[in-house]
Amino acid sequence: MPGSLRLTALHDHFGVEVHGVQLASITAEDGYAEIRAAFERHTLLLFRDQNFDDAAHIKLAQLFGPIEDRSRGANGPDPRVSPVSNRADNGNLVAEQDRHLLHLKANQLWHTDSTFLPSPALANILAARVLPSSGGETEFVSTRAAWVDVPGALRARTANALFKHRYAHSRAKLSEQLASDKMFTQWQDQTWRAVWPNPVTGDDALYIASHVFEVDGLSAADGEVLVAELMAFATQEKYVYRHQWLKRDVLIWDERATMHRGCPWPYDQERSLDSICVTARDIDGLDRVRP
Ligand SMILES: [Fe+2]
Repeated sequence: MPGSLRLTALHDHFGVEVHGVQLASITAEDGYAEIRAAFERHTLLLFRDQNFDDAAHIKLAQLFGPIEDRSRGANGPDPRVSPVSNRADNGNLVAEQDRHLLHLKANQLWHTDSTFLPSPALANILAARVLPSSGGETEFVSTRAAWVDVPGALRARTANALFKHRYAHSRAKLSEQLASDKMFTQWQDQTWRAVWPNPVTGDDALYIASHVFEVDGLSAADGEVLVAELMAFATQEKYVYRHQWLKRDVLIWDERATMHRGCPWPYDQERSLDSICVTARDIDGLDRVRP
């Protein structure tokens, strides 16, 4: 691989398409350093026309760090790809009021992944498998670009804030019954600083998600107001990149400096993507967001 990648911008503020790379051929010695540098700098990387099976997906993710096991909330010995799909294990499409589809709909709230885990995510590597005829896009905002623009008073209220994250909180916005599922209640609340400084580039990013349920030291009402103001600010149209998936696309994004959300699609059609989240470590700045 050449020392520099061929990149084209996806958005004014962040995101690039990387040309001429097959991710399946990337190794620690050949190609990873360039991709990692682009990830740190550009936050969101798009690779099109990938020959990318589960084995390649796992191998690439392991270059970024430990693979997250969502079901256990830890890095298990048996790394695997997690399907993001409305097709159930039995082969049928799930019904619109099915719990699993409600969970997928909760992913249509702005969030960054796994902030509710004891070790949150550094990156998500998402590969398109089966796409509906319309809809099903994924939208992203750069919370790094937004943080640069956050005005003085709001900035002062946020800079040293501690946000408390709970998985069930975002699910309760869809359904209290969904939120009571053990899948969403099994982790203790997590507290993270509201700003994540990137240890490589030095850039700060707002670290916020639909999972934030409280701001340390504020009343519930005041915390809600602060989170809502920040959410509204960071998700202004000018910060949004909407990704229209093509089959064989792979996206890699920086969970420390973005929020994302899925868009609706006709639920009588299959939408299947394969995801691996990589867990953040102190080397990725995790030590800097601990309270
Ligand atoms: Fe997500």
